[in-house]
Amino acid sequence: MRRKPEDLRSNRWFGVDDLRSFGHRSRAKQMGLSPEDYAGKPVIGIINTWSELNPCHIHLRTRAEEVKRGVWQAGGFPVELPAMSLGETMQKPTTMLYRNFLAMETEELARSNPCDGLVLLGGCDKTVPALLMGAISANLPSIFVPAGPMLRGNWKGQQLGSGSDVWKYWAEKRAGNISESEWGEMEDGIARSFGTCMTMGTASTLAMSAEAFGMTLPGASTIPAPDASHSRLATASGRRAVEMVWEDLKPRDIMTQAALENGVRAVMACGGSTNAVVHFLAIAGRLGLPLDLERIDQLSREMPLILNLRPSGDYLMEDLYYAGGFKAVLNRLSPLLDLDQVTVNGKTLGENIKGAEVHIPDVVKTLEEPMSPEGGLAMLKGTLAPNGAVIKHSAASPELLTHTGPAIVFNDYNDMAKRLDDPDLPVTKDSVLVLRQAGPLGGPGMPEWGMMPLPKKLLQQGVRDMVRISDARMSGTSYGTCILHVAPESHLGGPLALVRDGDLIELDVPNRKLNLLVDEAELNRRKGEWVQPKVIYPRGYGWMYAQHVTQADKGCDFDYLHETEEQIPEPEIH
Ligand code: FES
Ligand code: MG
Repeated sequence: MRRKPEDLRSNRWFGVDDLRSFGHRSRAKQMGLSPEDYAGKPVIGIINTWSELNPCHIHLRTRAEEVKRGVWQAGGFPVELPAMSLGETMQKPTTMLYRNFLAMETEELARSNPCDGLVLLGGCDKTVPALLMGAISANLPSIFVPAGPMLRGNWKGQQLGSGSDVWKYWAEKRAGNISESEWGEMEDGIARSFGTCMTMGTASTLAMSAEAFGMTLPGASTIPAPDASHSRLATASGRRAVEMVWEDLKPRDIMTQAALENGVRAVMACGGSTNAVVHFLAIAGRLGLPLDLERIDQLSREMPLILNLRPSGDYLMEDLYYAGGFKAVLNRLSPLLDLDQVTVNGKTLGENIKGAEVHIPDVVKTLEEPMSPEGGLAMLKGTLAPNGAVIKHSAASPELLTHTGPAIVFNDYNDMAKRLDDPDLPVTKDSVLVLRQAGPLGGPGMPEWGMMPLPKKLLQQGVRDMVRISDARMSGTSYGTCILHVAPESHLGGPLALVRDGDLIELDVPNRKLNLLVDEAELNRRKGEWVQPKVIYPRGYGWMYAQHVTQADKGCDFDYLHETEEQIPEPEIH
């Protein structure tokens, strides 16, 4: 049923006749606003993660103005609410430490202010799950506007992809195949505009997930950030947010189990980022819906990989946009999706993608002739990862997917940095590199260290991939035979903490196995000798994070942010 002005949440602030509402109205006047501006209108909070240290979001100030234009047009009242930006490139030790911070900020900005609906402006990796998690918990009508991918990179006429080509050419530089001046030219050409990484990295993955969930307008996830369509998307999203308030269409009406699984399925078919696994689990936790690594693996096995984007394939997001965009991908995947799920525009996913065609066949393959018959990610289990681990097998070396080799163990990142290139390190191409202290607690924040660099002497011999295992994450733009998110993590004394140089490790991706071939008695003996590393932050946010963060197989949310039976009451207005 359509809501009326007196039903609006903001009416409790502005519309009643008491001392407090006098204060709210007089203070609105202080900002130059008259009741004509806001009275009886849906207040749309624009949660903006713009910052001058986030190059992916540098256009979001302008986009916020464009959203406001749409909100005004539709008879709403827009208010911009700045939130922590989580710029992936500059923020240390890792933005993942702060995903839950932004999620809490989003939820509490919505709850404590007179908002009736939200427009969420974000895009750089962690901002997407954070904004969605916060919006789900606040459960006010919300629409997500992805920042959009940047333009394709260019170097000597070759296309460069964010992240992926940096890793590739860095390895070539270390091997002595690229000069300083060529490296400088790449620095000039790899990031040519504002917007998010234009490979199938975490930002693209999460933007597409949001679209598949139904939380964006159709086609939103693939529009390049500098394209004029992106401004029109922002304005249309503002208009639509106002309508969603009158219709009372909330995130929990959209984010059903089937919608959540549509997102997982789409990402698997697109060769999406391993990071999505952690975020999907956290989002499911906020919704109180069942999702675990087994289910994600099952969904991945059911989805053919059809999107030919780096790092699993050849192309970039701009190519996908010209090829028909994500709508065309979803259309190709239709037989494997639940098309009846309602989306932010009030229409079903099926209605939104109807007739969307693929214009460049090499970019989006068919279900009949996919890039690979299975989705991009696989979940592993075994004596080295009793609670699970993740691999992007679509971007790994096929010959290493079944491999047994002796471990070379690094105790932490600094140990690795110090010894990796030591000519005396007894490492061969068959060794398995192991990195500890890189998990949710150990990193802390599970930094993207999982694509460990290869030892220089092996690079010079022409080796370009090895089996690498850690409790870290890796960038969605990374590739190689990297096993990530090992749970429980080494900081908690998981088996990863007990591996020693020379132990044999068995990887069997087709059978989803990851085993440490050391007998139990010996492992128990080592466990008895193990000393837990010190907590890293003695106070502050990092300390609080360490008390409450869950392990990778549970999504790394704070335990107290999961869905509960009892709802938080609306704030008293006194
Ligand atoms: Fe922002 Fe990749 S660094 S999306
Ligand atoms: Mg990234």
